[in-house]
Amino acid sequence: MDSICVTGGAALAGEIPIAGAKNACLTLMPATLLTDDPLTLTNAPRLSDIRTMTLLLQSLGAEVSALQEGRVLALSSHALDSHRAEYDIVRKMRASILVLGPLLARHGEAEVSLPGGCAIGARPVDLHLKGLEQLGAVLELKDGYVHATAKGGLRGGRVSFPFVSVGATENVLMAATLAKGTTVIENAAREPEIVDLARCLRAMGAAIEGEGSDTITVEGVDALHGATHQVVTDRIELGTYMLAPAITGGTVECLGGRMELVESFAEKLDEAGISVEETARGLKVSRKNGRIRAVDVETAPFPGFPTDLQAQMMALLCTAEGESHLHETIFENRFMHAPELMRMGAEIDVSGGTATVRGVDRLKGAPVMATDLRASVSLILAGLAAEGDTLVNRVYHLDRGYERVEEKLSACGATIERVSGS
Ligand code: EPZ
Repeated sequence: MDSICVTGGAALAGEIPIAGAKNACLTLMPATLLTDDPLTLTNAPRLSDIRTMTLLLQSLGAEVSALQEGRVLALSSHALDSHRAEYDIVRKMRASILVLGPLLARHGEAEVSLPGGCAIGARPVDLHLKGLEQLGAVLELKDGYVHATAKGGLRGGRVSFPFVSVGATENVLMAATLAKGTTVIENAAREPEIVDLARCLRAMGAAIEGEGSDTITVEGVDALHGATHQVVTDRIELGTYMLAPAITGGTVECLGGRMELVESFAEKLDEAGISVEETARGLKVSRKNGRIRAVDVETAPFPGFPTDLQAQMMALLCTAEGESHLHETIFENRFMHAPELMRMGAEIDVSGGTATVRGVDRLKGAPVMATDLRASVSLILAGLAAEGDTLVNRVYHLDRGYERVEEKLSACGATIERVSGS
């Protein structure tokens, strides 16, 4: 397993290109199952999760080609020969559940392994299943698989989520495009990735209104056709790299970044003493002056503070002046980066869903363990400003969501290298 070694101390300066959104691409790719025509995705990120979704779709008989060094994905499901998503792929990536809605809508049948939990929580899929049942699906759970059928096809319905779920909104939205009649999704997720999916589905001929608000209305159509769609910029990669100059005290321009993708996050950075300036090419981020100020953060569905940036924000607040409180409201176990940051000298108390961080002058490099995707990058960020070397182990977590992280950071003056493991 590879590790990444970071030697802290350099103030970063330069520019970092931001890739297409992993969490948009992972829902756009299954949309190919909704039509026999070709679907082309541009600005695709080159990540192991995308390769996993590629393998899953290919296991169903879909064709997926990575062109232009993986930046363009050419997909087609005209030769689909299976509707069964096997456990050994699904267990590697929870987003695999997103093939359920499209398979059901297009082929009237789907067998998808339940994804199981992950490091940050149990992460059930009950809202996905209930939502599809509202569209007429008949579901049976057997041997760890969801067996779903929709004889005569799905029908439009009213799906009202008790709380916001990004994935459940995506599954129901895709299924509703081919359901007979009108579907109204209430308490829908408002994330930019949902808006991006709706734009792609509309380009494929779907009739969708209200994406980005909490109510989405879909008029089912008989068939969808192919399209070419550019994947939206990754707001979580953007926020992550905005924190790099914030932590080291430098100035970095994040190319392709747009303020509307990270509004609430940028407000918190401003409160902490970080300046974020919109430029013609992206977002320029620098520390205003002196020490970071402590701030309180509460994660929430978009447009609130993203849970996927909570670990990275904690890394910044470890050396802030004063006491910060981070309240994680989305996942039940998303503080595993805290003990690792404490190995670097951070002072953190976790109680239930709240982490209290008392700022220290400087962190000290140490060997640390990555536990999940966002925790692993928060340890890299902490290492950028720590005294000495930080060795982050198990960076396969990192490669799921960050393309060439050591290249992007070393181009801005960081001392960071990948150490190949056994
Ligand atoms: C998506 O996961 C993202 N993943 C996550 O990013 C992100 O953290 C999350 O949305 C929240 O923004 C992808 O898009 C591939 P949810 P998802 O359904 O859809 C509970 C990353 O780091 N829930 O919005 O799985 C769930 O357990 C990843 O890139 C149910 O109880 O998240 C969680 O507590 C991590 N039943 C909360 O709702 C359900 O049926 C929100 O989950 C579905 C979800």
